[in-house]
Amino acid sequence: RIYPGADQACAHVADAIDKLLRTRQQEGRPAVLGLATGSTPVRLYRELIRRHREEGLSFAHAVTFNLDEYYGLDGSHPESYRRFMQEQLFDHIDIDPANTHVPDGTAAREQVFDACQSYEDAIAQVGGIDIQILGIGRTGHIGFNEPGSGPESRTRLVTLDALTRRDAARDFLGEENVPRHAITMGVGSILEARQIFLLAWGESKATIVAETVEGEQRLAVPASFLQRHKACTFCLDAAAASHL
Ligand code: GLP
Repeated sequence: RIYPGADQACAHVADAIDKLLRTRQQEGRPAVLGLATGSTPVRLYRELIRRHREEGLSFAHAVTFNLDEYYGLDGSHPESYRRFMQEQLFDHIDIDPANTHVPDGTAAREQVFDACQSYEDAIAQVGGIDIQILGIGRTGHIGFNEPGSGPESRTRLVTLDALTRRDAARDFLGEENVPRHAITMGVGSILEARQIFLLAWGESKATIVAETVEGEQRLAVPASFLQRHKACTFCLDAAAASHL
């Protein structure tokens, strides 16, 4: 779907989340959301906060799982994804903090494998992800599934691509401060969500969006494996869609 601007795209995705939350509240069952970080979903989170404040949208029955976290950063680090989520969404809505999950970037090396397995188990225990929100990196990554990540990959420790670290350099005040590793849900884990919305804005995403949507499914562009999902929508602004 191509929208004139990001706000219209976010309104559409917010509608889907709104509907899920209200339905599950009536049924007394959890609504399970897969959430993303980066600049892209910020406007969506702003719209959800607005609906919470002005329209009584409740997150009391929501359970969230974030895609990824930088390895080595704890939740108080200004660039950690835990901190990002608190500031951009969780601190402004009525979600139970115990229901918000972000991979633990501080797990010791020898415990990472088990921590990743537990993350997947926790998702399975609540019945899987209903709606997964994704951004896309210029390497074609979703979460931190860099080129080489296969469609069956699961939650794991990964090495960040040089371009990804360069793109993050400004936030970290220098490339040398950007962590080299991250924990991310796998492409296979992401593909198990019942519904997926990938958001992309701006000219800088146009090339990778076109390769993802129109190219072959391939390891060089992990996001291309979304083509095999039955309910995946790319919500783009005109600039991000300009190379399609
Ligand atoms: C990071 C995140 C991704 C995100 C990507 C794009 O690498 N791990 O989940 O999609 O950045 O970031 P932005 O939305 O700022 O362009």
